[in-house]
Amino acid sequence: MAQQESTWWRGAAIYQVYVRSFADGDGDGTGDLAGVRSRLPYLAELGIDAIWFNPWYPSPMDDGGYDVSDYRDIEPSFGSLAEAEKLIEEAHHLGIKIIIDIVPNHCSDVHPWFVAAVAAGRDSLERQRFWFRDGLGENGELPPNNWQSRFGGSAWTRVTEPDGSPGQWFLHLYSSRQPDLNWRNPAVHAEFADVLRFWFNRGVDGFRIDVADGLVKEDGLPDVADPNGRLPYSDLDGVHEIYREWRKIADSYPDKRVFVGEMWLPDPLRFAMYLRPDELHSAFNFDFLSCPWDATRLREVVDATLAAHAPVNAPATWVLSNHDVTRHVTRYGRTDTSFSFADRQHQAPTDRTLGERRARAAALLTLALPGGVYIYQGEELGLSEVEDLPDEVREDPVFKRTKGADIGRDGCRVPVPWSGAESPYGFNTTGAAPWLPQPANWASATVEAQTDDPSSMLELYRSALRLRHTETALGDGPLLWLDDLPAGVLAFSRDSSFACVVNLSGSAVALPPHLEVLLASGPLDGTDLPSDMAVWLRT
Ligand code: NOJ
Repeated sequence: MAQQESTWWRGAAIYQVYVRSFADGDGDGTGDLAGVRSRLPYLAELGIDAIWFNPWYPSPMDDGGYDVSDYRDIEPSFGSLAEAEKLIEEAHHLGIKIIIDIVPNHCSDVHPWFVAAVAAGRDSLERQRFWFRDGLGENGELPPNNWQSRFGGSAWTRVTEPDGSPGQWFLHLYSSRQPDLNWRNPAVHAEFADVLRFWFNRGVDGFRIDVADGLVKEDGLPDVADPNGRLPYSDLDGVHEIYREWRKIADSYPDKRVFVGEMWLPDPLRFAMYLRPDELHSAFNFDFLSCPWDATRLREVVDATLAAHAPVNAPATWVLSNHDVTRHVTRYGRTDTSFSFADRQHQAPTDRTLGERRARAAALLTLALPGGVYIYQGEELGLSEVEDLPDEVREDPVFKRTKGADIGRDGCRVPVPWSGAESPYGFNTTGAAPWLPQPANWASATVEAQTDDPSSMLELYRSALRLRHTETALGDGPLLWLDDLPAGVLAFSRDSSFACVVNLSGSAVALPPHLEVLLASGPLDGTDLPSDMAVWLRT
């Protein structure tokens, strides 16, 4: 992956750190920056190129930090700004780039802007930074339109006016503690331009943009006509102007800083518009993440992805898991291996062994595809979704707002096991209970237990990431399908000397001609590749 320094992101392996659950340095049960700093050598050794941090800003944690109360500081339970600066410096010293989350669609209800807006009352400049509207009905007792929160329930909440009377409503596409900002207001543009510079000036190499498609709302805030059709708050043309402004800021730094967008969009052509040369550098490819473990479907997604990215000359990205979705070891062990927010298939029967076998093959597939790749903390340990969390420990607003109809995302956010035979498994050294309970059977999943075990998921990731650095064909570059293999087998070369073969056919297949097996997701059967396995070949 011999990338030029200025285009490192085109083929980077980026490790996602959900700070709260990664490592707990001060031993209070919540992960923090001290914990991350102590584990930087682990990440360097793993072989990743960059870290993406979920929001690390001060926050009441109504939505795990996606409810930001100050964009220019660090959540006190995570550490301090000075510590973040040290962390950035230490990571850079180890050759690791830093990407942080920016949350421009909404802030926290305790952000000073929102507090001021509620206090200032109707028709104030303060309210114009948000979406305040009078309600419908005789006494304004009904929400201004029919928009639904993505976390369930109405997207509107009514405030009490300073004089104590029932007042206006404000828009929140997520929880009622996450008021949407009004991007028609130039003050909002100026504020975020300044926040970008604040962090770029502190050495941050890039931003992951939360809800990147959602910032602009349709004039007049019309009702949603068809919930499965075009939404008046997603992917409006005006949003591109924002990213053109942002791109100029990133490009004003000599060592080019980057953006990755979070957009779940059905249309690959609309998706690619965000990746035009004067907008974002890359975006998460959720079609791949949602795709079932099926050779035909996966090949279609890979082809559609590459076809959509080519005209704008943007690199594709490949993601299997993140802090919002069911961990893929669990998904791949089910009858229905796809992912959808509409149905998390909570506690569907899961064959853990099969899921892990497929996850190992999927790792080699993903790490061999052209472009960048994201690894969600714990994925390299083969962690599965924790599905038996008691209701009372669940914190996700999705769970709360749907009254449990959607079980939510806590199950993929359980703190990482590092060492030892029982919880907290080295997450901290004080023995304090982690903020979400860890399963009793994670002793064999720890970093310590998997290290030097050649059959472990961790050593597979380590080997694959090491090869990603030495195999110049990996990362950014072309892909050529190899078609003379049986149905159900995905095989492609990256150049004349490297090929990846993934067997989803249900039975063993003979490997194509090759010089050497560089890496296999499990033991081969002579020269045959068993089902649900993958290999990297020297050809
Ligand atoms: C997407 C983030 O990944 C998710 O965790 C968050 O809840 C929503 N955006 C709202 O910020």
